[in-house]
Amino acid sequence: MDPADSDIVFQSYGRCCNNEQFFVDFYDFFMSSSEEVRAMFTETDMKQQRHLLRNGIMQLVLHARGLPDTKLRALGESHSRRGYNVRPDFYHLWLEALMKTLRRHDPEFSDTVESAWRRAIQPGIEIIRGAY
Ligand code: HEM
Repeated sequence: MDPADSDIVFQSYGRCCNNEQFFVDFYDFFMSSSEEVRAMFTETDMKQQRHLLRNGIMQLVLHARGLPDTKLRALGESHSRRGYNVRPDFYHLWLEALMKTLRRHDPEFSDTVESAWRRAIQPGIEIIRGAY
């Protein structure tokens, strides 16, 4: 990964992550993308979940900046068949929902920023997905 990607992504997330509506919109997009995804959150306290996701995305961003992957491995475990049983094919819906949310909320969003996000967080997503 180009180190410049992680700077672009870090700043883009900084423009978004202090706005609760970002996470509201993310879960609206994500749950609209599949009935099966929606069904996984029926018992979930969404206010709490939005807060947890704020940190989860931060872990992906920090991993792109070279931080160790301990927290992502723990997320891999909780999302695996031993936990929430999140099938690997759901992760592309998650990523596309994130891109839509960034496009809506980051005033400086562009194709360059989008590609930087995709390259930067893919390895971290693979750690979570790969633990299935
Ligand atoms: C790489 C992308 C993802 C990240 C960063 C992420 C992050 C998180 C975090 C931080 C939590 C709370 C901590 C925990 O319980 O371990 C969580 C819980 C959860 N995630 Fe994910 N997640 C991702 C992808 C997905 C996908 C694709 C699905 C399902 C389609 C999913 C379903 C869930 C469910 C069902 C919970 C538990 C909700 C509850 O407590 O009721 N996640 N996720």
